[in-house]
Amino acid sequence: MSFKIGVIGTGYVGLVSGTCFAESGNQLICVDIDEQKIAKLNSGGVPIYEPGLDVILQRNIRLNRIKFTSDITEAIRNCEIIFLCLPTPPNEDGSADLGYVLAVTETICNYIESHSITDRRIIVNRSTVPVGTADKVKAIVQAKTTNKNIHVVSNPEFLAEGFAVEESLNPSRVVVGTSNAEIGKVMQELYEPFLNGVNKFFLMDERSAEVTKYAANSFLAMRISFMNDLSNYCELNNVNIDNVKAGIGSDPRVGPYFLNAGIGYGGSCFPKDVRALLYSSEEINATLTLIRETQAINQKQIQRFISKVTSYFQNDFSNKTIAIWGLAFKPDTDDIREAPSFAVIRALLELSANLHVYDPEAMENTKLHFGDSITYFPSMYDAVRNADALIVCTEWKEFKAADVEELKKLMKNSVIFDGRNIFDLTLMKELGFHYASIGRPLVSPN
Ligand SMILES: NC(=O)c1ccc[n+]([C@@H]2O[C@H](COP(=O)([O-])OP(=O)(O)OC[C@H]3O[C@@H](n4cnc5c(N)ncnc54)[C@H](O)[C@@H]3O)[C@@H](O)[C@H]2O)c1
Repeated sequence: MSFKIGVIGTGYVGLVSGTCFAESGNQLICVDIDEQKIAKLNSGGVPIYEPGLDVILQRNIRLNRIKFTSDITEAIRNCEIIFLCLPTPPNEDGSADLGYVLAVTETICNYIESHSITDRRIIVNRSTVPVGTADKVKAIVQAKTTNKNIHVVSNPEFLAEGFAVEESLNPSRVVVGTSNAEIGKVMQELYEPFLNGVNKFFLMDERSAEVTKYAANSFLAMRISFMNDLSNYCELNNVNIDNVKAGIGSDPRVGPYFLNAGIGYGGSCFPKDVRALLYSSEEINATLTLIRETQAINQKQIQRFISKVTSYFQNDFSNKTIAIWGLAFKPDTDDIREAPSFAVIRALLELSANLHVYDPEAMENTKLHFGDSITYFPSMYDAVRNADALIVCTEWKEFKAADVEELKKLMKNSVIFDGRNIFDLTLMKELGFHYASIGRPLVSPN
């Protein structure tokens, strides 16, 4: 069975979801208000970096299964299932801004009403939204239309940038929130090609689905903060946290994922979702102590790292060139939203450091923020030439495979602050580096 599907919002989530639904044989109309994005997509380009996306996108464009437009009415008119893949950025108080989701819902309902559409429409919210949002969407549907055949579903997205295509084609689970059994069946049919006969389709009520998404991200953020908290303790005890990680992660009750100590979590999801969950808990006086500490540890962790750099240089960066490897908030993406590298860059610019940066994919996005205040280099080796220190902010594979002897030759001083533990301590010692990493003993040439 194939469906006509509209996707409103063609960003990281919408573009990947839309492409993967086309891959399973559905007919897709993807909509975005960003005309430039639509023009790029229509001329065969891919506006984001996501491994594997270009290949399946091109194939489905060739097969006429996916099209891109800035005209939302085309999707409302033609599509039975309409996915909302819209931003839910944080408001200043930390709550999720539902403006995009609610405004688009109104647009859909107004169009349905004014064009007397009576066929079934299923509005599926894929954005990350606080508990009760489906009720707000339903209230708009009821207020704005007389069509009784409009249904609202909460279907949170769990993809991780960098693995988004792989995960969408073979999801670890699909969570669908609807209290309507018939609509639940339609959603199951839509996802059937991705389930591979495995029982990983979880049907629940809308509110549970909404909380599941926040709980999932906060739990993963908590694991990272746990390790980062422990990293300080390990450093002070001359213990290598990577050994500890291996020792605990091999226990199936713990598992190996999200246990890397580093400079804290960033990206467009964990920081904002943790904040939004906390905000929502405050509204009802439900204390989420562990989540609050998760956030506090994350904020402290990046500051601790920056302090290591600034205290090494005694806050004096005059005539100092600092190289930075990695700008994206994690490897295999060009996404720089809430990237820890940005906190490092801001702090060092404040102290007038001369910054030489390199990232395999995220330099264009970074230029939009920092312009000419930092210098961009075409390779990791170019960026470190004559540098007084190197700071590693993202664990791209090419950095892990760097020739450190070459690095030593190119740099003015053999000093590395590694926020991602990519280098071997023994090798750093042998080569005479000052090497400060996270949760591991300091390597010092003296
Ligand atoms: N990026 C992730 O890894 C990820 C993972 C899971 C969930 N989410 C959630 O999914 C949602 C979308 O995230 P994203 O990363 O794809 O965001 P994004 O910013 O990359 O994409 C959102 C898109 O919506 C478009 N848009 C805004 N208003 C519109 C309108 N009125 N009509 C049509 N298009 C409009 C924007 O131009 C943009 O292209 C958020 O709630 C996010 O928290 C994101």
